[in-house]
Amino acid sequence: MKVFTEPAQLQKWAEGRRKAGKKIALVPTMGYLHEGHLSLIAAAKRKGADEIVVSIFVNPIQFGPKEDYARYPRDEKADLAKCRASGATAVFFPTPDNMYAKNHSVFIDEKQLGRTLCGARRPGHFRGVCTVVAKLFNLAKPHFAVFGQKDFQQQAIIRRMVRDLNFDVKIVVVPIVREPSGLAMSSRNTYLSAEDRPKALALSRALDELKRDVRREEELDWAPRRTQIVRGLRESGLNVDYVEAVDAETLSPVETLVRGNVVLLAVYCGGTRLIDNAVM
Ligand code: PAF
Repeated sequence: MKVFTEPAQLQKWAEGRRKAGKKIALVPTMGYLHEGHLSLIAAAKRKGADEIVVSIFVNPIQFGPKEDYARYPRDEKADLAKCRASGATAVFFPTPDNMYAKNHSVFIDEKQLGRTLCGARRPGHFRGVCTVVAKLFNLAKPHFAVFGQKDFQQQAIIRRMVRDLNFDVKIVVVPIVREPSGLAMSSRNTYLSAEDRPKALALSRALDELKRDVRREEELDWAPRRTQIVRGLRESGLNVDYVEAVDAETLSPVETLVRGNVVLLAVYCGGTRLIDNAVM
């Protein structure tokens, strides 16, 4: 497995692999890898990638000034071992200084899908995500890139960026991986205390109930269900950030929940912000 820290090294290697006719997959991550990330690598393998590049970079420009950039969990040694064991063929481990010139001044700003949900609450977040992902596309030169459904709004925005800016990269989206308890896997779960964990299960419980009801009733009037979910989450000890039902492509709110719509939840559990979602 190759390990690159310099953007130019990765770019040169990727160019060579492309010329040799190899199919390159990119799995962008911020590290502290868990089963969810490993499922992205497994998907890259299943889809026939010859080279699987995992990028591990806690991207400073997608964190707000009061967010957890400094304390975001990092474990380079364990991440490298996991990448090697799961079949990655290259890892890209840049530093902020070699990703961003001191006078870096070009950013990608998606103007529609990012206005709601996490975009509305984390100003600048998706601008940082789009900018780094575009850079990673230019460096790893992937034929396809794999993202998790866990960050539903992120994958929608990346797909929009690829469409609108004509990136020659196919986007593959992989279902959420959950702990046996139902909790969606996330590097930030490490912040949860023993008392927080049972509270956090209210998220997947609410989504499971909704999926069951949509399957049974075909349509649900969203407003009363939303009120009920917000109440349930609060009663479980969570601080609700948002509970929204949207169209899967446009992310516009829906009034009647039907199959194919997406319900997205964001809460604070203790001091930890958790997100989850489900396609009905
Ligand atoms: O989903 C993530 O971990 C990050 O937002 C990404 C896509 C690696 C960009 O930094």
